[in-house]
Amino acid sequence: MNDDNYSLDDYVGDLRDIAANTREDREIISKVRPLARRLALSKTWLKPEHYKCNQEQGFGVHLLHEEADHTLAVFAVSWLPGRGAPPHNHGTWAVVSGVDGPEENSFWDRLDDGSREGYAELSKRAAKAFVEGEVVALEPDHIHSVMNHSDRVTVSLHTYGMHVNHTGRSQYDVEKNLEIPFKVIQQ
Ligand SMILES: [Fe+2]
Repeated sequence: MNDDNYSLDDYVGDLRDIAANTREDREIISKVRPLARRLALSKTWLKPEHYKCNQEQGFGVHLLHEEADHTLAVFAVSWLPGRGAPPHNHGTWAVVSGVDGPEENSFWDRLDDGSREGYAELSKRAAKAFVEGEVVALEPDHIHSVMNHSDRVTVSLHTYGMHVNHTGRSQYDVEKNLEIPFKVIQQ
């Protein structure tokens, strides 16, 4: 923990202000970015239980906050060594900040026009390891995947315009060119 005591409550208050006064996703993202970094670094909210992962899923999803209408969802997500999440979108804006340990994010381009139901062609554009305080920001249709290449559980702080199990978002099977619904299992 550093000496900044910026709390989850402070963050939620700031998110509410931003959501009430900002229309464009890009503008929301640019305002949330530095605050997500600040909360990730303050670690005021981080508990040992946030390191618990779902063995089957490969990662643990710990809800820290959501509004009654499922907007402004904040999660601690923990990742088992050698595990990750397949390429996926979010169906809402997303701001992810590293908290503990490096997580590799890969960014994908969609090559087809989305007109064939359940079909998708993806191509990897770039990959980068994100560490403590580094932020990944994604618009609703942006596609990324995540991998923990380290030998211990990593944690990151995820903020979404809406809880991702309520956005109808997708995961992608790159080998088989499939687009599949994607819901996460919450701890
Ligand atoms: Fe994601």
